[in-house]
Amino acid sequence: MPQILELIRDDHDFIRGLFDELAGNPETRDVRCITLHRELPGHVYAEEATLYARLRDMVPEEIRQSIEEHIDIRETLARFEVIPLRDDAWMPALVDLRERVEAHFASEEGDVFTRAEHHLSPAELFGLGEMFEEEKQRAAQFVVV
Ligand SMILES: [Fe+2]
Ligand SMILES: [Fe+2]
Repeated sequence: MPQILELIRDDHDFIRGLFDELAGNPETRDVRCITLHRELPGHVYAEEATLYARLRDMVPEEIRQSIEEHIDIRETLARFEVIPLRDDAWMPALVDLRERVEAHFASEEGDVFTRAEHHLSPAELFGLGEMFEEEKQRAAQFVVV
C-alpha cells in the first residue's frame, strides 16, 4: 500500500485529468460529471478524516487554511452541479471550479506535504494511507447520484 501522500497525489492527478476531459470533450461530460461528483467530495472528506486530523495539532494554521479551501471547493462544486450541461454558464463555472481545486492541490502538494513529511514518520504516513483508502470507500457509500 502506498503511503498517504502518494495516494493523495494520485487522486489529484486523476481529478486534474477529469477536468481536462470535462473542458475538452463534450461527448463524455455527463459521465465525467458523475465521476467528479463522487471523487472530489470523497477525496476532501478522506483527507480531513486522516491527514488533516493527524496534523491539526502540529500545524493548526496550515490545516485551518486547508479546511477553509475545502469548504470553498464544496460550495463551488454545489453551485457548478446545478448548472445544466448546455447552459452558457456551465463552462465559466467549470473554469472557476477547476482554478480553485488546482490552486488547492498545488498548496497541498507544496506546503501540506512538506509539513507532513517533517512531522510524521514513514510508518505513520504508511498507516494513514490505509486509513485514507478506507475513508474514501466509506464516503463513496453515501454518494447520491
Ligand atoms: Fe485537500
Ligand atoms: Fe487533496
